[in-house]
Amino acid sequence: MAALERTLVLLKPDAVARGLAGRIIQRFEDAGLKIVGTKMVQMDADLAKKHYFDLEERFGPSVFNVTATFMQSGPVIALVLEGVEAVTTVRRLVGVTFPNQANPGTIRGDFAHTSKAYTEANHTVAANLIHASGNPEEAKYEVELWFPEAELFTYQTVGEKFLF
Ligand code: PPS
Repeated sequence: MAALERTLVLLKPDAVARGLAGRIIQRFEDAGLKIVGTKMVQMDADLAKKHYFDLEERFGPSVFNVTATFMQSGPVIALVLEGVEAVTTVRRLVGVTFPNQANPGTIRGDFAHTSKAYTEANHTVAANLIHASGNPEEAKYEVELWFPEAELFTYQTVGEKFLF
């Protein structure tokens, strides 16, 4: 049977500043995902480093630097979502990294259109509205990084179905 999973979602500073939080969260709730944790956070350099600990290795220092700067440019809304195979479900709803390549019907495809929208120190960053954990291991690390267990909630389920 498919597993109930938790995944971390960040509504990035562009999503918050553009007033898209409600509509984006609606997409996740419409798909049946449950909010089990949420808060608004101003990221600092330390949290950015911990959250994007492997970004420099994967994409180089420029991508890490612009992404870390962009993520500290305003508050983010952090969410832990729970659902059946929540990690892949959320990534599918969000769409691919660059909004100009994201399909209509995905959040990035519907609410953004440029490939690299935010420039900082001559480097461009994907202002792509959302971060979502990439795989279950990453989700476990990120949920623990952002939310102590006491800030997380649960719903009554039977098997993989929520009772309400
Ligand atoms: S991938 O391709 O799915 O493995 O990449 P992803 O998991 O989306 O992680 C890449 C994160 O870096 C951010 N970013 C960029 N990536 C590549 N190139 C450029 N120029 C770039 N600028 C920013 C990208 O938005 C991903 O951030 P998060 O917050 O994880 O979505």
